[in-house]
Amino acid sequence: MSEVSIDVHRDGAEVTESLRRDVREGLSARPKWLPSKWFYDAMGSELFDRITTLPEYYPTRAEREILARRATEITATSGMRTLVELGSGSSEKTRLLLAAGTAHGTLREFVPLDVSSSALSASARAVAAEYPRVAVHGVVGDFTAHLETLPGSAPRLVAFLGGTIGNLVPAERAKFLASVRAVLGAGEWLLLGTDLVKDTDTLLRAYDDSRGVTAEFNRNVLRVVNTHLGADFDPAAFDHVAHWDDRREWIEMRLAARRPMTVSIPGADLTVRFERGEYVRTEISAKFRPEGVRAELADAGFAVRRWWTDRKGRFGVCLAQVRD
Ligand code: SAH
Ligand code: AVI
Repeated sequence: MSEVSIDVHRDGAEVTESLRRDVREGLSARPKWLPSKWFYDAMGSELFDRITTLPEYYPTRAEREILARRATEITATSGMRTLVELGSGSSEKTRLLLAAGTAHGTLREFVPLDVSSSALSASARAVAAEYPRVAVHGVVGDFTAHLETLPGSAPRLVAFLGGTIGNLVPAERAKFLASVRAVLGAGEWLLLGTDLVKDTDTLLRAYDDSRGVTAEFNRNVLRVVNTHLGADFDPAAFDHVAHWDDRREWIEMRLAARRPMTVSIPGADLTVRFERGEYVRTEISAKFRPEGVRAELADAGFAVRRWWTDRKGRFGVCLAQVRD
């Protein structure tokens, strides 16, 4: 087992305060919304892992196919000494990069960062046991707020996989990519996974699976608000909705009230009224086109060095480098 350390950026009180602010802002807006990072307590992380095994949820398998074919090339091209992973979750596909990095002989350190402390600590320990020559330095934090510094020696490769960048709206993406650029030095690397625009039916099935796992994942955000802010949401009183926004090219997940109701959220000093059918937007999941990915990366100061898709063209992985 290699050395493992875990830094925690926010304590429980700070997490609750941040949720309180988001709930007050999002549930007072029209339409109502909540940031998708609040799905991921221990149960939310487990539900996400189940989603990745569903027949309808193709992104994980498609991205794994690309990484399995390209991990050696990614390692050799970048010469990475440190592999940073943002929104690392279980780091399951990342094992392909860890294996290639150790075989290549350059990789010394792995830095997974995630808001979910349960997912982070389990995966950090598992990776340390599986890769005894790689030091693991986990960070419990928010990649939209805690990127002022990143540990590890250069050259670093920052992996942002799974299509999680699509969970940010365009302005948030621009800010996020600029913040990644700002912590990297010239010549360092970003490995970015993006889900691609495709037929609506495939997309809707991926976000509304027949077993109802995505629906439970979606409702989990209400359980998180109940737990941390003493709210009395009845998750069963909300329908899971997956909606494709053709203009903005994103899936929107919503929770729609089955009946009129009033919800009390004492920890946010808030009472929220729902009409029948009124919804909370809980996530956007943007789907990309290759030229759009290149443009967003170029705007942030990255040059695309490699671009790959899976054989069916459903998902894209891009290896980009900080421009001088
Ligand atoms: N990268 C993994 C997991 C994707 S799920 C994969 O490709 O399968 C999204 C992950 O990002 C979850 O583990 C979630 O806890 C984390 N996450 C979501 N929003 C975050 C944020 N703002 N900061 C840090 N982690 C976040
Ligand atoms: C983490 N993220 C990329 C997933 C996605 O596909 O947008 C989260 C998810 N939402 C519903 N299913 C999976």
